[in-house]
Amino acid sequence: MRSLAQVEARVRQLREEIEGHNYRYYVLDAPSIPDAEYDRLFRELQQLEAEHPQFLNPDSPTQRVGAQPLEAFSQVTHRVPMLSLNNAFEDEEVAAFDRRVREGLAAAGEVDYATEPKFDGLAISLSYENGILVQGATRGDGFTGEDVTANLKTIKSIPLRLPVAEPPRLLEVRGEVLMLKRDFERLNAQQREKGEKEFANPRNAAAGSLRQLDSRVTAERRLTFFAYGVGAVEGADLPASHQAVMDWLAGMRFPVSRERALARGVEGLLAYYRRIGEERESLPYDIDGVVYKVNDLAAQERLGFVARAPRFAVAHKFPAQEAMTELLGIDVQVGRTGAITPVARLKPVFVGGVTVTNATLHNEDEIRRKDVHIGDTVIVRRAGDVIPEVVAVVPEKRPILAPEFVMPKACPECGSHIMRLPDEAIARCTGGLYCPAQRKQAILHFASRRAMDVEGLGDKLVDQLVDKGLVNNPADLYRLGMNTLANLERMAEKSAQNLLDALEKSKRTTLARFVYALGIRNVGEATAKDLARHFGSLDALMAADGERLQQVPDVGPVVADSIAQFFAEAHNREVIAQLREQGVAWEEGPGAAPSAGGTLAGKTFVLTGTLPAMSREAAKEKIEAAGGKVSGSVSKKTDYVVAGAEPGSKFTKAQELGVTILDEAGLLALLEQEKGEA
Ligand code: IVH
Repeated sequence: MRSLAQVEARVRQLREEIEGHNYRYYVLDAPSIPDAEYDRLFRELQQLEAEHPQFLNPDSPTQRVGAQPLEAFSQVTHRVPMLSLNNAFEDEEVAAFDRRVREGLAAAGEVDYATEPKFDGLAISLSYENGILVQGATRGDGFTGEDVTANLKTIKSIPLRLPVAEPPRLLEVRGEVLMLKRDFERLNAQQREKGEKEFANPRNAAAGSLRQLDSRVTAERRLTFFAYGVGAVEGADLPASHQAVMDWLAGMRFPVSRERALARGVEGLLAYYRRIGEERESLPYDIDGVVYKVNDLAAQERLGFVARAPRFAVAHKFPAQEAMTELLGIDVQVGRTGAITPVARLKPVFVGGVTVTNATLHNEDEIRRKDVHIGDTVIVRRAGDVIPEVVAVVPEKRPILAPEFVMPKACPECGSHIMRLPDEAIARCTGGLYCPAQRKQAILHFASRRAMDVEGLGDKLVDQLVDKGLVNNPADLYRLGMNTLANLERMAEKSAQNLLDALEKSKRTTLARFVYALGIRNVGEATAKDLARHFGSLDALMAADGERLQQVPDVGPVVADSIAQFFAEAHNREVIAQLREQGVAWEEGPGAAPSAGGTLAGKTFVLTGTLPAMSREAAKEKIEAAGGKVSGSVSKKTDYVVAGAEPGSKFTKAQELGVTILDEAGLLALLEQEKGEA
């Protein structure tokens, strides 16, 4: 039997160990033990606490699972108000901010700023008394917020106890609660499965999860926290700069942004803004701008506040990626393979830096799922270069007369029947190349940059060429002459000559590009490369049957079918023959495709989960540099699955199929081996 003192010591040890693992998993993204081992430690602690309730205390990691539901949140008055930031949108406004700072400080030279992302979540304040988390509150109106302690405790990256020998008497940590993009996707997938309403964006999902009276619900949602400052502090000397404060917080295991940096003067600020703007899409969380703060805390104090915002800081906002507008109607668009996409016609709205009038609604099922009616007020999102989409409707704003969308029976372009196969989400025009819309798309695809790369052949020109009956298939492009082209709208001799030159140049191509350019259904760029590499010549590819096609990595029965069907079509063979006659050519024979050297050549990898040190993109590059291939799904042909933290269903699939599973270290070892042999 263990003595009580021994039990207590074990309880303490388990807590430290578990919180250490929480920190490595949720903050550093670098777990060091398997989940099963973590669960074992957790259960041991739960059991000891159940047997010895005298040792149970509120900062135990077992207390992160949520508590009894509340009737209502109680109000909390912030010791130090939670203020807001002034916004800047233009570079000049940033310059004006910096000027005011320099004037306010009578600074001779340039000012140093701490720069960080502006997290798009909810501001909260965490109060630690003698190192224990005693209260967590929302910002509310800045002076009074709501007590959401039980909910915040379920966030595993928030320390329940500060891991220092002499914690401050009081420390208020300020920061943002948010939901990572991947957790948001997962939550919405679950909501879909349960037939419950999806959240429009990670911010709404985070807000909905944090403002739950039942903290057990919050515990099931995965929320994240980032610290960005402190409020009241008693019994500790703060370091002298904002950056040092953030380092101090990071040292106490608070999650802080990896993107934070120091910048000097306006030039430094704007360079940071641009850099983060470029990284915005690839960050694991949503941001709506960046924040600049005078780094020196004494200088911050001298600058002080105007109204409810500090003079020492400013938020430099990115163009909003979401906006509300009215849905005027729904049209359908016909794609290259006949796919019918419902498109929302919108009251023009400025979003993501441009005016948007159309947005995709993806397909019929999506329209039903999002319950979109014509006349609705909708939330439109345009992120980066992505096609604008309707993400949600605002149900309260639905007018009385708001008809539902009805999928047309006939193609608006060619009148052919629209068909939807029972197990497909996509409805298609059955007109094939008889449908001018499909013909235009096929020609545009053929000429596109990653296919035959015919510079200067844009959609307006293709519209004219097809509508006038001058071009019916890709081979017709190479028959165009000066006279015909120069007489088209918006064309002159010079532009016609340029196009003829571009067409001529495009004739020298590669087999991979040519195969991709054909626009075979289900054959993207990567598959086209695989096919070229595998078969070496077009004739060999055209002659291959389903079985031979499926010997190509990543080619399954569906893709093999599409390819075989395409080449079985007499019309397609005819166009290919004409293209060759016109002089379209590539090098053939083994080694025609970019050769894959390296000892990982021919090996297929699938990546899943978060790797501790490498991004997936970096892992992919390394594998490809060594001649390997990275595929999106696990099959019998997969050689290795590289699994990181929280692997998805690919991991289970790999186990089922008996595919070798590597962790990051295993992958690195394999790559090392490859280097050694090279
Ligand atoms: S500092 C006195 N830093 O922006 C200044 N705020 O408009 C206190 N926010 O309510 C705020 N990221 O929710 C600061 N890196 C960051 C931030 C940030 C997001 C939010 C915060 C605040 C709002 C101010």
